[in-house]
Amino acid sequence: MKYKRLGNSGIKVSELCLGTMTFGAGADEQASAEIYKASRDKGINFFDCANLYAGGQSEQILGNLIKDHREEVVISSKAYFPVDSYAGGGAETWGRGLNRTHLTRALDDSLKRLNTDYIDVYYMHRFDEDCTLEESLSTLNDFVRQGKINYIGLSNFAAWQYMKAVGITRQHNYAPIACIQPMYNLLKRQCESEILPMAESEKLGVFSYSPLAGGVLTGKYLVDNKDGVDGRLNEMAMYKKRYEATRNEYIAADFVNYARENGLDPISLAIRWAGTNSAITAPIIGGRSAEQLMPSLNSVDIEMTDEMRAEISALSVAPETATDRSEEPRT
Ligand SMILES: NC(=O)c1ccc[n+]([C@@H]2O[C@H](COP(=O)([O-])OP(=O)(O)OC[C@H]3O[C@@H](n4cnc5c(N)ncnc54)[C@H](OP(=O)(O)O)[C@@H]3O)[C@@H](O)[C@H]2O)c1
Repeated sequence: MKYKRLGNSGIKVSELCLGTMTFGAGADEQASAEIYKASRDKGINFFDCANLYAGGQSEQILGNLIKDHREEVVISSKAYFPVDSYAGGGAETWGRGLNRTHLTRALDDSLKRLNTDYIDVYYMHRFDEDCTLEESLSTLNDFVRQGKINYIGLSNFAAWQYMKAVGITRQHNYAPIACIQPMYNLLKRQCESEILPMAESEKLGVFSYSPLAGGVLTGKYLVDNKDGVDGRLNEMAMYKKRYEATRNEYIAADFVNYARENGLDPISLAIRWAGTNSAITAPIIGGRSAEQLMPSLNSVDIEMTDEMRAEISALSVAPETATDRSEEPRT
């Protein structure tokens, strides 16, 4: 396992991050402990969480797992979505989103559930159309000054929203944005056009999620009875809708064939493909059991050549460039 700087910060994190979205949802406490141990044994030191996951249970389970060695790990959490109904302010008013009232309550609740007095990386889980970035970022800056969080991250923003946030932190001398968390896999490559070049230019850490496209790139849905397969696409309508386009099935089939022809596990290869994009600090992996997670953990053992990376990239369509005419000669 290699360790890379978390963006422009002074700390280093493993080249794989473990996602804990399954803790308390798919993986019970015992299975979560086994997943956590397997990840630590492989050298992972960064664990991604959110207040939303399993209605707060994921934070509780992670908090229990790290309590004996808190200083040895880097943890994240996120806020935006309502987790419970707040007295005096439900989701229709200020009980959700990135306003000061909600963020303050959400962070205190996360610290309690995680049983810690600081969170290393605190993400805004998505952009809030109903709140100014000035309000959210001044609140997060206060959290940093109070020692409750160390670094600020942003997830699921558009490139212009990320850059607007970066500009506001510079203008007001707030704690900087350290990292971002976009979706990235062979079937969802939108971030290649603007977000990843922006991140490289701004020296932002990039922790990309869903490297297996929610399980599609494992190849397990490429069977006649795909509706009978155990997995998220058959359990969560949101994931089914996200990946149901027929072209995704063709790409996944070509990808799985490519992996097998090269004697590689498609799961390991899909994650290595994401992780070897020069802008990515670490893909965030996940699973329901330690056994299921093994090929994901083993992804770091694949020697990815430029040629292989190009061949895999050619199996799906790269997004349009961010500006017109950028492919034309400059002189
Ligand atoms: N910021 C955000 O908005 C956001 C959104 C999503 C995720 N995340 C983070 O990213 C992490 C990873 O995301 P993800 O879970 O979507 O990643 P993913 O790598 O695309 O999907 C992981 C899923 O693939 C399936 N899988 C993995 N290994 C398998 C195997 N050996 N055999 C069969 N199926 C296998 C499992 O799902 P099934 O068993 O259900 O098939 C597993 O949970 C999350 O834990 C979370 O921390 C962040």
